Amino acid sequence: MAKMGRATWLLTALAVASSMVAAQSPAIKIMPLGDSITGSPGCWRALLWRKLQDAKITNTDFVGTLPAQGCGFTYDGENEGHGGFLATGIVSNKQLPGWLSKTNPDVVMMHLGTNDVWNNKSPDEILAAFSTLLGQMRDSKKTMKILVAQIIPMNPPNCAQCAQGVVALNKAIPGWAAAKNTTDSPITVVDCWTGFDDAKDTNDGVHPNSSGNEKMANCWFDPLVRVLKS
Ligand SMILES: *[C@@H]1O[C@H](CO)[C@@H](O)[C@H](O)[C@H]1NC(C)=O
Ligand SMILES: *[C@@H]1O[C@H](CO)[C@@H](O)[C@H](O)[C@H]1NC(C)=O
Repeated sequence: MAKMGRATWLLTALAVASSMVAAQSPAIKIMPLGDSITGSPGCWRALLWRKLQDAKITNTDFVGTLPAQGCGFTYDGENEGHGGFLATGIVSNKQLPGWLSKTNPDVVMMHLGTNDVWNNKSPDEILAAFSTLLGQMRDSKKTMKILVAQIIPMNPPNCAQCAQGVVALNKAIPGWAAAKNTTDSPITVVDCWTGFDDAKDTNDGVHPNSSGNEKMANCWFDPLVRVLKS
């Protein structure tokens, strides 16, 4: 009896302590949104999570309807990185509102457009899709914070227009973001293009290998930390 009493007291104390911690720093829900570069397996997210832990930034909760895939260590890896998906396709299939309502993110970090470029969509078509997705994010949460990547370079075999298509999209993103920016729901443009070499940082001209994953974790880290601290 005495032992049980002590165990109960300990449990209660632990529960109170952990609820105090929770009250002090509610986890910020972050949705990584994209295609296979983000989700299949997207191990740059594992490296990014580890960098956050190393920096003692632990009030995060990565969310999404897809589970983490193996990246060699346990990490918080839920995501919306859907292999093969286009921004224009996510819009025409009306998929984002359902993902948002299931997971309620505070922050969306989006690396999208690769498959659109591959399928010959123009920057205008892709940015129109981004605008629809942005509206859906803000419908889900008025103060949504959005990070939009200037995507990594791509040069797969049999895609003559891919390399230049990514350059054209990335060039158009900052102007789009500035025009859509609001005080309530700020947009941060994240440059994941500069310093990434599709010949050295991917094995297939598209998907980051281990050096590419390291570069992607690095491109997101500072902008994400700034958003988390704002
Ligand atoms: C959006 O506005 C914020 C300030 O509210 C600013 O820090 C940020 O750079 C702006 N983003 C763009 C893409 O202009
Ligand atoms: C990444 O892929 C490229 C091309 O296949 C290769 O040359 C390079 O050694 C790889 N780097 C790492 C760190 O895996």
